[in-house]
Amino acid sequence: MRIAIGADHGGYPLNERVIEELRGAGHEITDFGTHDGSQPDDYPDYAVKVGQAVQSGEAEIGILICGSGVGAAVAANKLHGIRAALCGDTYSGHQSREHDDCNVLCLGARVVGEELALDIVRAFVAARFSGEERHRRRLEKIAAIEKKERG
Ligand code: RB5
Repeated sequence: MRIAIGADHGGYPLNERVIEELRGAGHEITDFGTHDGSQPDDYPDYAVKVGQAVQSGEAEIGILICGSGVGAAVAANKLHGIRAALCGDTYSGHQSREHDDCNVLCLGARVVGEELALDIVRAFVAARFSGEERHRRRLEKIAAIEKKERG
């Protein structure tokens, strides 16, 4: 898959480990950094880069990592058509794709350990939207909220 990955200083160096893992599994990675965890930076900047890569189709899915994963998820979900899931367990990792058709995974590097984070990434990347009617109906309702809010 084509996967865009970005992390702020709080998400470093977990992003490097995730990239290594995904490249090793044959995925094509667009790496938006950071590669320097000593420099304070701002998670919304990475959320925009990863989100826009997904919006444009350059990437099929995105992964965002910050300290808690919360800020990255809040920011990414402001982008039209982005459904970002903050996951701290593997069940949410695959269900967020299967039921909610999420296209961005958010992780908290200060919350989940490296091995759990990699398991969550594997679960998210391997899962696909089920396409079931009830899930489509709910996604249509979310899209309607988004459309109404945009005016
Ligand atoms: C950075 O200190 C931290 O606030 C950020 O990485 C993230 O956890 C925000 O939600």
